[in-house]
Amino acid sequence: MKKVKLSNGIQMPEIGFGTYLTTKEDEEFSTVLADAITAGYRHFDTASFYKNERQLGDAVKKSGIPRKDFFITSKVNLDEMGYEKTKETFAATLSRLDMNYVDLYLIHWPCLNGEPENWRELDTETWKAIEELYEEGKVRAIGVSNFLVHHLENLLLECRIVPMVDQIEFHPGYTQEETREFCKERGIVVEAWSPFGRGAVLEDEYLLSLARKYHVSTSQICLRFILQCGAVPLPKSSSVPRMKQNQDVYGFELSAEDMKGILSMREKGFSGFYPDKI
Ligand SMILES: NC(=O)c1ccc[n+]([C@@H]2O[C@H](COP(=O)([O-])OP(=O)(O)OC[C@H]3O[C@@H](n4cnc5c(N)ncnc54)[C@H](OP(=O)(O)O)[C@@H]3O)[C@@H](O)[C@H]2O)c1
Repeated sequence: MKKVKLSNGIQMPEIGFGTYLTTKEDEEFSTVLADAITAGYRHFDTASFYKNERQLGDAVKKSGIPRKDFFITSKVNLDEMGYEKTKETFAATLSRLDMNYVDLYLIHWPCLNGEPENWRELDTETWKAIEELYEEGKVRAIGVSNFLVHHLENLLLECRIVPMVDQIEFHPGYTQEETREFCKERGIVVEAWSPFGRGAVLEDEYLLSLARKYHVSTSQICLRFILQCGAVPLPKSSSVPRMKQNQDVYGFELSAEDMKGILSMREKGFSGFYPDKI
């Protein structure tokens, strides 16, 4: 698997595996994780909110593959924000994963703009705790998720360490150019959550026409588009053939014209989760 280099030199596999709400029932989720590891995924995206860190830790252990070969991301949730709570949440995450470090730790959502009133302080206090976890060697890289430009600007005013990653909703039909441009200028790698708009863009007529043109699937068009934008997609699938297909995206390249065509698609598949209104 190809890797991207974060601003601190850490290498991250450029396709990750999403673990939020798999389409399989809970008890089958361990099988999904084992299948994903067998299919070659080493980069896994979890969060304390997903309630599956324990299963992910078990799957890594059961695989027999050394821990250092994995890239594990977790996140502190909105109701766990603040300096002390973040430290407690992180300790609980490590314990559930049964690991002594995570590769990437993120603030899952910024506080609502203006609600609570001290949203700026809550974001920066949370970040301060995360910076310390990084300096203590408990996390190899740190970042944020769902931060738009004004959230990032606020953090950048106070931070000692610039976030290395911003994980945002990003797929054909929802491309967040302003935030991506801001991140690019500051060396912040963008990760793309819901690369298929939770499946909503896979039947889009324009993407289907591109799939026919390049002799691939629409999911491969979505992933290739995200990679060519310089971002890291986090596809999720509970089907082994799809897990494999979602990594098989290096045999073709979208033309500049088709990239432009996708970027100018009408909004489609937006989750409805706007970070200031969630
Ligand atoms: N930071 C955040 O706030 C945030 C928010 C949302 C998500 N995320 C992360 O992003 C990850 C991915 O997003 P997501 O889970 O919302 O959805 P997604 O990856 O955009 O879409 C998943 C859907 O696409 C289908 N699919 C996958 N591969 C396919 C293929 N090759 N062909 C046809 N259908 C395919 C899956 O069905 P099958 O299972 O049947 O294949 C599933 O229904 C999450 O799991 C999570 O880790 C982060």
